[in-house]
Amino acid sequence: MAAKTKPLPTLPGEDRLEKIPAHIYESPGDACAALAAEVKTLIEKRRAKGKATVLGLATGSTPVPFYRELIRLHNEEGFSFADVITFNLDEYFGVDRDHRESYARFMREQLFDHIDIDPANTHVPDGTVPSEEVFSYCSGYEKAIKEAGGIDLQILGIGRTGHIGFNEPGSSRDSRTRLITLDRITRLDAAADFLGEENVPRFAITMGVGTILEAREIALMAWGQNKASVVAEAVEGPVSDQVSASFLQDHPKARFLIDAAAAGALTRRRVPWLVRPVSWKARDVRRAVVWVAQKLEKPVLKLVERDFNENGLGDLLTQHGPAYDLNIRIFNELQHTISGWPGGKPNADHTNRPERALPYPKTTLVLSPEPQDDVISMGGTMERLHEQGHNVTVAYLTSGNLRVADAEAEKFARVLLATAQREKWKKQVEYAEGILAQLAEKGPFGQDTDDIRRIKSLIRRGEARDACAVCGIAHEKIRFLDLPFYEQGRYRQFTVQDEDIAAVRKLLAAVKPHQIYATGNAADPSSLPAKCFYALSQAIAQEKAAGAAWLESCYLWLYRGTEDEYSPHEIDMAVPMSPDQLARKVSAIHKYQSHRSEEQHTGERNRLAAQRYDDLGLAEYEAIEPFQRWRI
Ligand code: GLP
Repeated sequence: MAAKTKPLPTLPGEDRLEKIPAHIYESPGDACAALAAEVKTLIEKRRAKGKATVLGLATGSTPVPFYRELIRLHNEEGFSFADVITFNLDEYFGVDRDHRESYARFMREQLFDHIDIDPANTHVPDGTVPSEEVFSYCSGYEKAIKEAGGIDLQILGIGRTGHIGFNEPGSSRDSRTRLITLDRITRLDAAADFLGEENVPRFAITMGVGTILEAREIALMAWGQNKASVVAEAVEGPVSDQVSASFLQDHPKARFLIDAAAAGALTRRRVPWLVRPVSWKARDVRRAVVWVAQKLEKPVLKLVERDFNENGLGDLLTQHGPAYDLNIRIFNELQHTISGWPGGKPNADHTNRPERALPYPKTTLVLSPEPQDDVISMGGTMERLHEQGHNVTVAYLTSGNLRVADAEAEKFARVLLATAQREKWKKQVEYAEGILAQLAEKGPFGQDTDDIRRIKSLIRRGEARDACAVCGIAHEKIRFLDLPFYEQGRYRQFTVQDEDIAAVRKLLAAVKPHQIYATGNAADPSSLPAKCFYALSQAIAQEKAAGAAWLESCYLWLYRGTEDEYSPHEIDMAVPMSPDQLARKVSAIHKYQSHRSEEQHTGERNRLAAQRYDDLGLAEYEAIEPFQRWRI
């Protein structure tokens, strides 16, 4: 199907708080097709005048589909890039151009090697210049841009700290190309690529904000829910050196191309009643009541007419008031999302429960993109489901082996070696020595061999089994799909193939679940959870087309992974937890030793979810695991 190249329509006035034009597209593919078509026109126009075109380019996963579209233009339409000059924004410092994570290599692999651009016309900052020469090197980079005639169009992504290029918080508007220290969040985001946070470089060379602002035109792309808040800050917030993308507000020809998930925190999406008339669908009514209660820090049942009127919600009262009735209605709706029976409560009236009472017990399938995602987001619910007698299968779509540090693999190889030597197992000695030799040979940044990946998978499997055991799930109820796209790929560059979808479909058809728990629908499309969700949705679509009967009685429950947690108005099922249950869940998460992300290990996120319910005047729980229902 051809991509649509027009953004979704903007209703009159709804963008009035946006200080940078934000074009929302149905999908990243549509946005990239639109941008690539523009680039083509720009090059053609300049070519007609005998001029080269200078493009400023970005790395990261965001522009990958855009580069694919440029490659397609070259391959399928014969479009030439022979008179295009490029300057990349940045490069990790201390990383040479052939390092597998260098931006220079990224650009070759993702674009330059596939089009007819002259390599001499491509520029990526050199991460290997000696420290004492960095200053003059950076001035030289600036000079080269000027000599090329300045940048015609600068392509940008945005980091979670709001950075453009690597202009981390604190970068001034006038900053120029320079060496910069990377922020902790930026380093955490790059940890998977570098096989561990400790391997992520601490410094980078980046064009400055001032350098970027000199481009004649700027297009910033962002996809997925975890960019939503930073996009809103940049577009609607004050211009601030804490969010370097906000400096784009001062540029006459800067704009954002975003997908619906990345647009989610803009006023027009988050609180649309402030900028346009709203038709008040059920979910919007709940959203508005929750919003006003949170804003005024009042429980729902204490809101009065004035609270609504003074906060732009007079219209809501006219249609759904008076406040007293509306409050009770929304309070009840929220109340009904709370259920300690995630598999449904047998022998109970389920009219107001999120799950059906029957069938009982249910066959439940928990899908986890990689080991640990499941327990982090729904360890408490897994335990409940098991305790309440449901038949729970946990399936890990990928092995997660790329996240395991070399030191872990080495530790296991050494244990094996010592045991094998003592027992005089010749083959095992050879095997363990082989692993150790392969680890030494590849070094910290080299690609893992198949043997190393296998041993790392086994480590993750063991941890997954231990974590599941804490939740009561027995070994034989665990499935490891090891989807081929993961085993053959690397983070940010995974491509789901038919064989992956077929494997997920086979699992679904074998288990025939009454409930599926999954994640990734709102994630950055290049992320692992998003790829896994894509494989699942395709597998479901195929089962549906084949008329699979199990689908008719299947509920799909979504949990949030690394994206922002569901807000109360988005939640369809809130599974409460006692302090003991939360402590057990945290201990399940701690079974994962080979890969740790400290932020998620304390149960804080579940405490916060409970706090939000409490603040709205609902029952006070220690913790809550939230879910949203997805209509299959
Ligand atoms: C890095 C790059 C930025 C990029 C950002 C976001 O920090 N230096 O140019 O915009 O990552 O990356 P991604 O597109 O993978 O989310």
